[in-house]
Amino acid sequence: MSTFRELLVEQLSDIHSAETQIVQALPKMIDAANDPDLKKAFSHHLEETRAQIQRLEEAFGELGESPTGKACQGMKGLLKEGEEALDTPVAGPLRDALLIAGAQRVEHYEISAYGTAIAWAKQLDLDEVADLLDETLEEESAADEKLTSIAEGGLLEAGVNEEAVSRR
Ligand SMILES: [Fe+2]
Repeated sequence: MSTFRELLVEQLSDIHSAETQIVQALPKMIDAANDPDLKKAFSHHLEETRAQIQRLEEAFGELGESPTGKACQGMKGLLKEGEEALDTPVAGPLRDALLIAGAQRVEHYEISAYGTAIAWAKQLDLDEVADLLDETLEEESAADEKLTSIAEGGLLEAGVNEEAVSRR
């Protein structure tokens, strides 16, 4: 039977795989984004994600473990759906709306995964690990809020207006 600590290592390995997949996906999202603020937000999150992987590696170091190397299937699916959305022929602002929809699904998945891992690390008295993960959780939440504010700050409206113009 696996121990709680081993289960935590598995959760962290899953997150490590998810973050690695995100680093690979973000350059495509930066290219596909139309709105300069969205491009900037994605670029910033790419840098952040690289640092988050470092932080995870530090957490593994604290545990004296390494990632199992098992791929996170959840993230694979989310990113695949995101790529499919990019094949949808739509105008710039609507493409951005689709990109944000996909990116927020990714953020929420991560927020949930980090939340669980932090709770488990605390339960196991692994405060250093919990602190490292908490730093990342803050960034994920901020990234999610940033995406909401970009979507609500006129982008959705621009999408609706553009559609109205193209239907005339
Ligand atoms: Fe992340």
